[in-house]
Amino acid sequence: MSSDTGATRNLTIDGARLWASLMEMARIGATAKGGVCRLALTDLDRESRDLFVRWCEQAGCSVRVDPMGNIFARRAGRDASLPPVATGSHLDSQPTGGRFDGVYGVLAGLEVIRTLNDHDVRTDAPVELVVWTDEEGARFPPAMVGSGVYAGVFDLAYGHSRQDLDGKRLGDELARIGYKGDAPMGQAFGAFFETHIEQGPILEAAGLSVGVVTGAQGTRWYDVVLTGAECHAGPTPMDRRRDALAAAGTLLARIYALAHDNPPHGRATVGEFRCYPGSRNTVPGRVELTVDLRHPDASVLETMHAGLGHACAAVAAATGVEVTRDLIWDSPPVAFDPGCVAAVRRGADLLGYSHMDVVSGAGHDAVYISRITPTAMVFIPCEDGISHNEVENATPEHVEAGANVLLHAMLDKAGV
Ligand code: GLV
Ligand code: MN
Ligand code: MN
Repeated sequence: MSSDTGATRNLTIDGARLWASLMEMARIGATAKGGVCRLALTDLDRESRDLFVRWCEQAGCSVRVDPMGNIFARRAGRDASLPPVATGSHLDSQPTGGRFDGVYGVLAGLEVIRTLNDHDVRTDAPVELVVWTDEEGARFPPAMVGSGVYAGVFDLAYGHSRQDLDGKRLGDELARIGYKGDAPMGQAFGAFFETHIEQGPILEAAGLSVGVVTGAQGTRWYDVVLTGAECHAGPTPMDRRRDALAAAGTLLARIYALAHDNPPHGRATVGEFRCYPGSRNTVPGRVELTVDLRHPDASVLETMHAGLGHACAAVAAATGVEVTRDLIWDSPPVAFDPGCVAAVRRGADLLGYSHMDVVSGAGHDAVYISRITPTAMVFIPCEDGISHNEVENATPEHVEAGANVLLHAMLDKAGV
């Protein structure tokens, strides 16, 4: 198999076409503030999937869907016995999502396929473009569920039984929108690449065009429940209360301290918070909150995990409020495949893009796919490092650069 040299050396994608496709997809679930709300397995998610499938079929791909709703669009290669060289990301978004998180990695892959078609480039291995289901975990926690089931990190029953806050199950919602298929799962690819906005400030601050992603930090998600007792806001003396919200206030400070005590990489986020019964003259009897802890070093993440346990116990002892903490997701730090990382770096060098190595702060489908396939990622800068926000933005130049790097990393692995 020859690598990415000769005839394909000067090949570049069509940046204007990629940008136009991104903007067209961003109309599905568009928000007033310029972002996107396209939660997993809603009607809007279906609409974005339908458009994706239409575009892939127009590009001559054969499309299959697996039992987790992951979509695979394949462009045939010269040798059907070779495992496909794959790319992809997700189409679902956060409630206050942007126009690039996930969808950029999907449409950059589509642009690679369109470019290969335009120039009649035949690869040795097939090229495959994947949309992974429920990457965000915003509606159906945890994150990266579709790629996780595909890679065997979770079983299918676990994936299908994920529930949203209304008690709707992921498997039922998949069937409802018509994306529960029967394509085989767990098959390794020849290589997997995922292109994504950085979602942090490092590349922009360094003034660079491309991040060569060498791995991703670890993440743990928890459900924390504080149970006290409801009582009357007037007659009940302060020292006779077991106020779940007052206890949560103390606990919050200790949760953020887990990150502040582990600078500069420690992260702690409480993203959901529910207080019951939610009446202004009843002392709250129950609080539910979520905790997201992150660190690139597994041993520090372990220390933060233990610290959360101590914090819950200490608050319970001091307040008489019961505090439980369930670890619902544990995604350890990963290092990507050196050969795929080198292919990304070679792609950036070939095209003359400035670049640096970075570790991803966010989780990505590539994290789970890296367990079954040599994997790496391409990052581009995003404005002010902001993501999971409707103002999320990236420049057309960087969007084009990332897709060009993807093109050459994939050609490198697919053989031409
Ligand atoms: C997953 O996408 C995460 O980083 O939260
Ligand atoms: Mn994403
Ligand atoms: Mn995201």
